[in-house]
Amino acid sequence: MDQHGHILQDNIMYKLIENYCTDPERILKLCQKYNHMFKIRDPKGDYFGTPEKPGSIKQIKHWNMPTELKEAIFDTIPDEDDGFCTAHLNKYEAGDFLPKHKDTAQGYYRFKLVFLQADRPHFKYYDENNKGHLVEEKPGALMDMHIATPHEVTPIGEDEQPKYSLALCWFPSSAGVA
Ligand SMILES: [Fe+2]
Repeated sequence: MDQHGHILQDNIMYKLIENYCTDPERILKLCQKYNHMFKIRDPKGDYFGTPEKPGSIKQIKHWNMPTELKEAIFDTIPDEDDGFCTAHLNKYEAGDFLPKHKDTAQGYYRFKLVFLQADRPHFKYYDENNKGHLVEEKPGALMDMHIATPHEVTPIGEDEQPKYSLALCWFPSSAGVA
């Protein structure tokens, strides 16, 4: 198993930016408070991977998110751009996973994943040689990768706690959408 920290390597396709979120614990506590609001992502119409292997994930999407949870997110991440940002919270329980996929081949927006807890690593990205690398999931760290980077979340074990993460989608003001 390869694990990269924030050390840059020649073929690296991401940067791990530590302490991007300054208070992941505040978000995690609210994830537990609003646990009942996580909904299973529709595996038919809204899937990752392929319809045959859609993955399994629970989410609170931005538009269903309680105000105090939104505040806990946007109070603790940098305002990097004067554009527009949506936030979804992800929850993976035992057996949940995301198959290998790309978020999109290209786009004017940027996808940013923020780890909220340190546990057994499950987030895996694939380098240009299609070699998978597990990433050390430091709480508050930003996984800053190109939007076309293939990645997956390996299945959560029966003996593991639920895993939460924060997915941000940034639309820079230069894109003209904000
Ligand atoms: Fe993804």
